[in-house]
Amino acid sequence: MSKIILTADRPTGKLHIGHYVGSLRNRVKMQNELKKDDVMYVMVADSQAMTDNTGNIQKVKNNLIEVALDYLAVGLDPKKCTIFIQSEVPQLTEFTFYYMNLVTVARLQRNPTVKSEIQQKEFGRSIPAGFLTYPVSQTADITAFNANLVPVGEDQLPVLEQSREIVRTFNSMYAPILVEPEAILPDNKACLRLPGLDGKAKMSKSLGNCIYLGDTEEEIKAKINKMYTDPNHIKVSDPGKVEGNVVFTYLDAFATDESFKEFLPEYKNLDELKQHYTRGGLGDIKVKKFLFEVINKELTPIRARRQQYAQHKDEVYKMLFEGSDKAQKVAQANLDKLKHAMNIDYRAEFYKNKK
Ligand code: TRP
Repeated sequence: MSKIILTADRPTGKLHIGHYVGSLRNRVKMQNELKKDDVMYVMVADSQAMTDNTGNIQKVKNNLIEVALDYLAVGLDPKKCTIFIQSEVPQLTEFTFYYMNLVTVARLQRNPTVKSEIQQKEFGRSIPAGFLTYPVSQTADITAFNANLVPVGEDQLPVLEQSREIVRTFNSMYAPILVEPEAILPDNKACLRLPGLDGKAKMSKSLGNCIYLGDTEEEIKAKINKMYTDPNHIKVSDPGKVEGNVVFTYLDAFATDESFKEFLPEYKNLDELKQHYTRGGLGDIKVKKFLFEVINKELTPIRARRQQYAQHKDEVYKMLFEGSDKAQKVAQANLDKLKHAMNIDYRAEFYKNKK
């Protein structure tokens, strides 16, 4: 079976290294390994972002271009994948509307991702209906392109499970035309959920604990210097803990044996470094300096490409519109099939009977 890959991000802020190790790095790799009949779509989910930013659509609008710049910066290439804007593909709304009836309000309220987001956003009893139903619209995003593979962050697994349920319901109620999508997570466990610089569970713009893909060298250095380590590791000679030590979690996500050869040749690999730290005798400053070198090396080409594209925003918008036109055609063809399966393709049926 050929691969049809689809992923998306809500444009509510610039993308950070949590997005990078959790999904973007994987996407670029997948993009570069596409075979002849494989296709890949990357969507800026502006409509989904509006479900909890109704009073601040300007923020979504501003970040649309930032996310597109991040995509191009990490190496997503519009010649290899279709990059598009959700709201520019109106067919998605129509898919959503039909799927709404295949899921109950109670089931949406039980969705663990939606539930925790509702708490986090402090909606109380005033949950926007559009927010509660975003897993339905996400199912539309996926099935409108017949996507079978969906690289996402770990937190999105319950949403994807809900999509699979909707697909099964549709298939059994009408005709088995939809594909159950499969989530793709990074293999490296440290990449599943990169903690914030402060050791908080998640890197998040609102907590101000992120390293952004566009950060300058100085910014990265300053952020790493302030990073949370082991609070009981005071003197260099003290034994230190690597579990819950953000510096080591980031090294898990970024450092390879090559990084040691290049920047810290007195250690062969991360295990050796961890052992030394645990034993005592290794200071935070040295480990942080290494982490800086490793991250900075990976982000330097990304930052440079980001700056370049940022000088050509008109071209970036045009790229997004071209991608959206392509996406519309595919979504329309699949919408026609959906309506045929639901037996509501009135016109086609009417004119066929006239022949
Ligand atoms: N909900 C996803 C997120 O917050 C974004 C998203 C929208 C998405 N539509 C999608 C992800 C379709 C995968 C497939 O990250």
